[in-house]
Amino acid sequence: MQKDLLKMSDLNKDELFSILDLAAQLKYENKNGIPHKRLAGKTLGMIFQKSSTRTRVSFEVGMYQLGGQPLFLSSRDLQIGRGEPIEDTARVLSRYLDGIMIRTYAQKEVEDLAKYASIPIINGLTDYAHPCQVLADLLTIREYKGKFDGVKFTYIGDGNNMANSLIVGGLLAGMDVAIATPAGYEPAADVLEFAKAYGSKFTLTTDINEAAKDADVLYTDVWASMGMEDEIQKRQADFKGFCIDSRLMSLAKPDAMVQHCLPAHRGEEIMADVLEAHANELFDEAENRLHAQKAVLVKLMEK
Ligand code: CP
Ligand code: NVA
Repeated sequence: MQKDLLKMSDLNKDELFSILDLAAQLKYENKNGIPHKRLAGKTLGMIFQKSSTRTRVSFEVGMYQLGGQPLFLSSRDLQIGRGEPIEDTARVLSRYLDGIMIRTYAQKEVEDLAKYASIPIINGLTDYAHPCQVLADLLTIREYKGKFDGVKFTYIGDGNNMANSLIVGGLLAGMDVAIATPAGYEPAADVLEFAKAYGSKFTLTTDINEAAKDADVLYTDVWASMGMEDEIQKRQADFKGFCIDSRLMSLAKPDAMVQHCLPAHRGEEIMADVLEAHANELFDEAENRLHAQKAVLVKLMEK
């Protein structure tokens, strides 16, 4: 494993499966009251420049369950918020902490933090990537489907951080990945380049029906991500119809599961009845953030 987890392509297939296997083991231990204080005495700093419910709470609880200490660091309070360079912040925090999770805007900021820090850096969401979410998604899909090979994974919506990370993670895991975005909202160019090597296992279209046909998993995310609030009106027009509703579900396999990183906007990218009908899968997915991230923390911070 590399020192950091900045994006899904930092992992190869073996590393990905070894994280999923450890996540499953830690979940089992957690459910059965088997102590696993594998990071006793270690401290994780958590820098947040954007809001969070799942990421903050699951990392914080995860560190606690592993016997370590989480430290919530809002950028409003840190000197980063007043312009202290990331390279200085990285070197200072490396003297106190054993690892850093960061949620911010630019991927470059996370890359710079990793370059100057001597401790592991974990991407807790940037505009480009959300690897921790995808590890939880893959864990959930494997729990429900029992495999990745032959599974058709479909993502409907913005070619955003989720799409970028799901494409790489889905293909690495062995699934067939179909993406439908409105024209002009395609995933990042380097991700499409990565996907090229997978030939017909990857498809990109603007046609949601084509993408949803015979899907085993249907995934969606908000039309406007954090930081894009001023584009909401334009996006509401451009994304009209990019919605998981009962009509779209009828095109997928009868036992298709629904995934969403959450928070969800009912009536936009997903209808309330579909969300409620698939609530078990969706909240298992949210729970799995905890188990998947604990596996990442152990892999990167246990020495
Ligand atoms: N899915 C996710 O990352 O949720 P939060 O924004 O609540 O952390
Ligand atoms: N694409 C969304 C994901 C939130 C977890 C955002 O970046 O806001």
